[in-house]
Amino acid sequence: MKIDILTLFPEMFDGVLNSSILKKAQEKDTVSYTVTDFRDFTTNKHRKVDDYPYGGGAGMVLKPQPLFDAVESLKDDQEKKPRVILMCPQGERLTQKKAEELAEEDHLIFVCGHYEGYDERIREHLVTDEISIGDYVLTGGELAAMVVIDSVTRLLPEVLGNEESSKLDSYSSGLLEHPHYTRPADYRGMKVPDVLLSGDHARIQKWRDRESLKRTFLRRPDLIDESSLSDENLEYLEKLKKNRNTE
Ligand code: ADE
Repeated sequence: MKIDILTLFPEMFDGVLNSSILKKAQEKDTVSYTVTDFRDFTTNKHRKVDDYPYGGGAGMVLKPQPLFDAVESLKDDQEKKPRVILMCPQGERLTQKKAEELAEEDHLIFVCGHYEGYDERIREHLVTDEISIGDYVLTGGELAAMVVIDSVTRLLPEVLGNEESSKLDSYSSGLLEHPHYTRPADYRGMKVPDVLLSGDHARIQKWRDRESLKRTFLRRPDLIDESSLSDENLEYLEKLKKNRNTE
């Protein structure tokens, strides 16, 4: 996968793209990242990327020209049309499903603005997607783009090893993950549940399935899709609901 990032602050990406799994993914040639300063595409003498809003008002607006030219310079006529993703708080909320959808693409172009608004023609005629990482406002789209890039890259084939497998992640099953424990079995009197020390894999799996469902029920009931639960888990869910009603 090719990932291009258009930003006025390229240095913000150095640490994140060159650490941990994202660094490994580049070394394996599964992904290549290119960070481009779109100020380099300005055609005016002062290299201005923004201007005052028509109609007046506070704040500046990113001009269409540098971004249109920058995106066009990255498109390759031979390839399938890239997804051009605008990072903004008004966009579609990022979910695991959206990350999975983007992980199927060959080329993603991220557009990150900072402080300013975007000229509406960028939204209407240049980008294919608008993504928000949550209902809060960041100083710019860069941190948000890094979040999306991380969530997509780790889904690409062979990026994660077995131990890190994304199949077991919270959300990929639709439910939150069950609790985890490691040694020691007794830390300051805080004990690991007996079942995990039993060596009985079927019992352990059943415990994990239930804990995963319980945690999701308590923290994120909106994620539970009853039609995808096994009969056993449905029964357990009924129990959880009953207990809540009697508390
Ligand atoms: N730019 C500023 N805030 C943002 C957010 N919450 N998500 C994506 N891009 C943003």
